[in-house]
Amino acid sequence: MAQPPPNITKKLEGKVAIITGGARGIGEATARLFANHGARVVIADIQDEEGQTVAESIGSETCSYVHCDVADEEQVKKLVDSTIHTYGQLDIMFSNAGVFSKSKQLVIDLDFAGLDRIMAINVRGTAACVKHAAKAMVERGVKGSIVCTASLAATTGGESWTDYYMSKHAILGLMRCASKQLGPHGIRVNTVSPFAVATPLTCSSFQMDAEEFEKLNQPLSCLKGTILKVNHIADAALFLASDDSAFITGHNLVVDGGCTV
Ligand SMILES: NC(=O)c1ccc[n+]([C@@H]2O[C@H](COP(=O)([O-])OP(=O)(O)OC[C@H]3O[C@@H](n4cnc5c(N)ncnc54)[C@H](O)[C@@H]3O)[C@@H](O)[C@H]2O)c1
Repeated sequence: MAQPPPNITKKLEGKVAIITGGARGIGEATARLFANHGARVVIADIQDEEGQTVAESIGSETCSYVHCDVADEEQVKKLVDSTIHTYGQLDIMFSNAGVFSKSKQLVIDLDFAGLDRIMAINVRGTAACVKHAAKAMVERGVKGSIVCTASLAATTGGESWTDYYMSKHAILGLMRCASKQLGPHGIRVNTVSPFAVATPLTCSSFQMDAEEFEKLNQPLSCLKGTILKVNHIADAALFLASDDSAFITGHNLVVDGGCTV
């Protein structure tokens, strides 16, 4: 496991976190950062080989991998139960697993099988993660933090990919309801909304390598001299997961270099 820089303030010491979609991309970067900050991390994904490799590289004393298809509520429940069984607690749920549109998905010829697939993973999957993490936290009196990955697509309209935009809007609705309902228990619920960042998801969807993808999107941000990387999203997730954001709930933290200003 990569050693944290000396004198790092460990912001998640003693915490236990689940990260869905942690086998690669934003989830993997966040798993590494959370572990560096002292958390024990459970990576949940459907890509078993990649997930196990990431968990092993972080270190078995700190990180483990669990197969979990978030579209199946029963598997999400088992993920939460097994995490508590193994580590004795659950403090942080980073519900991050998500998929992108398989075609343009213009409203005028919307493919409902595609819409159902995205809703099952992005919306139902996130709802299952929030539900079961919240239940476990409430039952144990844990004042935990739930963070979900939304997107700029959660607050804007799209010229295409209607199903994806719809799914990300729904995540904001879920986050806002959950933050109101769980606030009385001391549980915070927030979203992080990344702008386009090069990951296996975006590079394969747009059939570009990371450099091409970054070149395409960089001009859309008003912030020059910094290229959005998965680590920037992980930093935002760490902020929302840790006590640095102790009085922040119901918030959508946009990480877009001023793109939507
Ligand atoms: N990359 C971007 O530009 C961008 C922008 C905005 C939002 N997002 C969101 O960020 C999140 C992570 O995306 P990424 O770019 O890192 O993608 P990625 O494909 O690199 O990683 C996503 C991970 O989720 C996993 N996953 C997919 N379906 C799953 C399921 N049913 N159950 C469990 N795991 C599943 C995948 O196997 C993969 O490991 C997604 O919710 C995505 O919508 C990404």
